[in-house]
Amino acid sequence: MKGIILAGGTGSRLHPITLAVSKQLLPVGDKPMIYYPLSVLMLADVRDILIITTPADSEQFQQLLGDGSHLGLTLDYATQSRPRGIGEALLIGADFIGSDEVALALGDNIFHGNSFSELLQREIRNVEGCTLFGYPVHDPQRYGVGETDGDGRLLSIEEKPARPRSNRAITGLYFYDNEAVDIAKNLRPSARGEIEITDVNLAYLERGRARLVDLGRGFAWLDTGTPEALLQAGQYVRTLEERQGVRIACVEEVALRMGFITPEQCRRLGAGIAASGYGRYVMDMAEELGGAR
Ligand code: DAU
Repeated sequence: MKGIILAGGTGSRLHPITLAVSKQLLPVGDKPMIYYPLSVLMLADVRDILIITTPADSEQFQQLLGDGSHLGLTLDYATQSRPRGIGEALLIGADFIGSDEVALALGDNIFHGNSFSELLQREIRNVEGCTLFGYPVHDPQRYGVGETDGDGRLLSIEEKPARPRSNRAITGLYFYDNEAVDIAKNLRPSARGEIEITDVNLAYLERGRARLVDLGRGFAWLDTGTPEALLQAGQYVRTLEERQGVRIACVEEVALRMGFITPEQCRRLGAGIAASGYGRYVMDMAEELGGAR
């Protein structure tokens, strides 16, 4: 299974903040936004990941994450010259995906919840067609929306419908079999000029090969699209982190827990940024989980 993080776009609702900085590099709590989708892919045990950014931002992402080897990952980079739609990630990533399956994560989506790792690993092992993740929201018209019948079977998918048929938003995490690339290749841009990810999902639905997995009320799926939402996401993360003394989306800790790196490697990563509370936490985790010193 390959992974793609789509981290391009203009971040126009966050202007002027995002005029000179990529949205997905902005802080959420005490770490860059992209750590959150990266952690999700890592928790799903995906280690071969393509990061798609704008041409202007690519260098900064590479400065932050490098080739990924320090986290036990293989990271590649590609660019999207204009935001021509989320579905274009499958075209830009076609060679990278090759004959594999792919997990696509949007760079601005933040997930947090109990046993998320188990859920991800279970679902990723059983991808037949496409697997989508639904989350109940009070404003579904802002998202892709999935409607299911009484048995949980997916009946319809609509992109930002004026009159949503359910309150189930389709989140920015998509698991696909290899057919997704061909499906995307055959799509035409929508009225707003984008290769819509919803059209990819609809093609799977028409073939009876789309599943919607519900993330229940106990999960958090947070928005980062506006200054208020970004601030709230940061406050949510910090509130939980301070209360519980653990960090959400600490990629070094995830790499250690997943067995991608050793405790000693983890300790060294923390030591390199020990002036920050984040760095000291990474060192503490290395010691706690592996006795590194
Ligand atoms: O967040 C989940 C929602 O994401 C889904 O429910 C919708 O079905 C899906 O269309 C998408 O809706 P948004 O309106 O939130 O998409 P947005 O244009 O904000 O882009 C989401 C992320 O993908 C953001 O980090 C920017 C990036 N992006 C987007 C487009 C269209 C790109 O990198 N390139 C693109 O061409």
